[in-house]
Amino acid sequence: MATGSPLLQMERIDKTFPGVHALDHVDFDLYPGEVHILLGENGAGKSTLMKILSGSLEADSGRILIEGAEVRHNNPDRAAKLGVGMVYQEFSLVPTLTVAENICLGDMPRNRAGLIRWGEVYRRAQDILATLGVDINVRAQTSSLSVAEQQLTEIARILAQEPRILLLDEPTSALSDTEVDRLFDIIRRLQERGVGIIYISHRLDEVPRIGTRVTVMRDGRVVGTLPVAEADKNTLISMMVGRRLAEQYPKTVSQPGPPVLRVENLTAEPVLHDLSFEVRAGEILGIFGLMGAGQTHLAHVLFGLEPMTSGQVYIDDEPVTIRHPTGAIRRRMGLLLRDRQASLVPVQGLGPNITLPKVSQRALLGLLNLRSETQIASQYIADLSIRPPQVRRPVKFLSGGNQQKVCLARWLATGARILIVDEPTRGIDVGAKAEVFGLLDRLASSQNVGIILISSEMPEILAMADRILVMRQGRFTAEYAYGEATQELLLKSAS
Ligand SMILES: Nc1ncnc2c1ncn2[C@@H]1O[C@H](COP(=O)(O)OP(=O)(O)OP(=O)(O)O)[C@@H](O)[C@H]1O
Ligand SMILES: [Mg+2]
Repeated sequence: MATGSPLLQMERIDKTFPGVHALDHVDFDLYPGEVHILLGENGAGKSTLMKILSGSLEADSGRILIEGAEVRHNNPDRAAKLGVGMVYQEFSLVPTLTVAENICLGDMPRNRAGLIRWGEVYRRAQDILATLGVDINVRAQTSSLSVAEQQLTEIARILAQEPRILLLDEPTSALSDTEVDRLFDIIRRLQERGVGIIYISHRLDEVPRIGTRVTVMRDGRVVGTLPVAEADKNTLISMMVGRRLAEQYPKTVSQPGPPVLRVENLTAEPVLHDLSFEVRAGEILGIFGLMGAGQTHLAHVLFGLEPMTSGQVYIDDEPVTIRHPTGAIRRRMGLLLRDRQASLVPVQGLGPNITLPKVSQRALLGLLNLRSETQIASQYIADLSIRPPQVRRPVKFLSGGNQQKVCLARWLATGARILIVDEPTRGIDVGAKAEVFGLLDRLASSQNVGIILISSEMPEILAMADRILVMRQGRFTAEYAYGEATQELLLKSAS
């Protein structure tokens, strides 16, 4: 598929941020009609390289050539005029605008008098979303959309510009399987038209499905470039981490203790219906469901973020009513939200971001100790290999995956006895995944924490959960003990 002369050449691109050599003389190229996949651990430099191409960052040195001609651009508008369109890992939508306004933002249709033709704005936005096969109200305010809908709107916005070089930075991390299938169909159609696509992902199983070539980066350098046919999973993992992974899914199977959380007939209209279950001390309870089955609502209701209509929750056999997250935190419950970015304080350092709820928990007791904040944060920075390991570095300067690890560290630091984690490995690289699972396993098996693991990644839930409940349309449809379920059974019960 990759034939003729290159569409894009990036030569010896170098970029240093204060304290980090993010890109060390990187070479990268792209041919018309190919999907060039860019892989690497969190913080490897993938997003930085793409931001330089899309004009939102400037390289310290190096050259960029498009169709053989050197280009100089230092802002996204000029890059867009050259045909470069980028779907960012952190969305760039304007939350207060409607979906249609966001999609047409770069090029609002106007009449001769210069007035915006609103009918045309809505029609164009509608058309593009229709090609993506998604049903989103183009008049809705963007902030009211789910993460997946925002992701699709973001993709639609870039496709509206008809780029000849399309950059996708982790486009599928928030999408359901059917949405991923549609996106891949669109990518294939763009390929046929000769568009070159650069695709960043942490999902290694996407490589053979969509890729032409793969480039692996580590610590700001290119480790190698391979055709997809030669890029099997183990080769890629060892290129990414520079060592063999000890164990992808560390799991201790042990006898769980008494229930820490018990839920009876929980209903939250209109999404959750009559849910009864329990989580035991030291148990990892997996909840599997396709996107939108209600699993995230359940997490929110348990944590006091959404109201319940009826039912009863017990903690340690005591009936409780949790109307607000502070009540949940006081009862030593923790929740890792699916929408990670929403819960970080971007200008603050790693330390305060990790210890935030812990501090508020202790502030209840009137204590605050900055030294211990640094100690606790350093511990988790090491455990989860958060990079760069600087307690005072503002989180907004971290790579996407490292920001996710900060959110996770925060809840691990609260000393929660009941921990709910919603898609805990979204955006996290293979090495860090193993570390996250190692921590969850230790919390359960040696500290007796009861964990609810909400996940749509079948391999991880099958490997890590002591028990799996399957959810469909707000109800439980099946329960499996460890070792009992298979991917087929999960899918069958979920759809
Ligand atoms: N604006 C910035 N200021 C300071 N440092 C930055 C900035 N952007 C990125 N970095 C640092 O540069 C390095 C590369 O980050 P980059 O975002 O390119 O990683 P990535 O490969 O996209 O990782 P991920 O998979 O986690 O998204 C990281 O160490 C990151 O902390
Ligand atoms: Mg990134």
